[in-house]
Amino acid sequence: MKDILGYEGTRCVVVGAATGMGEACARTLVEMGAEVTALDVAPVSAPVKQSVQVDLADPASIAAAAKQVEGEIPKLFVCAGVPGPPKWDALATMRVNFVGVRAITEALLPQVPKGGAVALISSVAGVGFAKNLEKLRELCDTTTFEDAVAWCEANPEVANGYLGSKQALIVYTKLRASQLVEREVRFNCLLPAPTQTPMLETFHEQVGGKENLEQFFLAPIGRNATPGEMAEPLIALNGDAMRFVSGVALEVDYGYCGEVHVGVRQGLL
Ligand SMILES: NC(=O)c1ccc[n+]([C@@H]2O[C@H](COP(=O)([O-])OP(=O)(O)OC[C@H]3O[C@@H](n4cnc5c(N)ncnc54)[C@H](O)[C@@H]3O)[C@@H](O)[C@H]2O)c1
Repeated sequence: MKDILGYEGTRCVVVGAATGMGEACARTLVEMGAEVTALDVAPVSAPVKQSVQVDLADPASIAAAAKQVEGEIPKLFVCAGVPGPPKWDALATMRVNFVGVRAITEALLPQVPKGGAVALISSVAGVGFAKNLEKLRELCDTTTFEDAVAWCEANPEVANGYLGSKQALIVYTKLRASQLVEREVRFNCLLPAPTQTPMLETFHEQVGGKENLEQFFLAPIGRNATPGEMAEPLIALNGDAMRFVSGVALEVDYGYCGEVHVGVRQGLL
């Protein structure tokens, strides 16, 4: 059979591989014959070739972790994220979900060769990014970790936590995709609907219960996704079959964002 995704024997790095979608991604890639390096702040149980600890809130940890990942990275997946309160306030959430995600991506990007691909995970929560585009481009224009954090501190109305971080990742994806065309490196992100992972419990607590979250964000099919239902599209997005796809924010939500875009669902985002 023709292997249209091309992962057999391919070197992949998965950031955020301890639980949830990232874990499902790492396990599936191993099953597909890829050689996987996993990065996470928590211990990774997937049977990967190499596991490296990294705290995306800490630039020194990011630099040290990136040094341990040697050689070419044809496929880079960045899945890590935090849900926000009560454990992470708005700034702490921006720090991990945007500033740290961008920092590890940029630290590893020089090792992504021509024909390689990068896929990040944003969220359907970021779909309204266009209304903050100008400000989010300013954030993306910052170059250092510290400057990005300072920008977030100075712009709390846009850098407002989970939603702002996920909007910023979409803008970053599209800007980076444009800049990386000349290197022939693709750059995309996934926008998952609510998915049954450890993070979902925190989302339920934040809005005062499962029913409240589901009223606003549940996919039209009427259930949460499984981690595999996000990991597999993510793997497809970085696969060779998608070799003409870059700058895309892929909505994996059984039509949720589609309904938002045409006004079938109103005022949600
Ligand atoms: N679950 C959902 O409903 C949902 C919906 C849309 C988007 N997302 C996004 O999907 C991605 C995966 O989340 P998930 O749902 O699988 O949740 P999860 O909590 O199971 O996975 C998050 C992973 O990120 C890692 N991580 C957290 N903080 C880190 C840090 N400082 N440094 C390094 N690694 C860190 C965690 O250890 C974990 O392995 C996240 O970016 C999340 O924002 C989740």
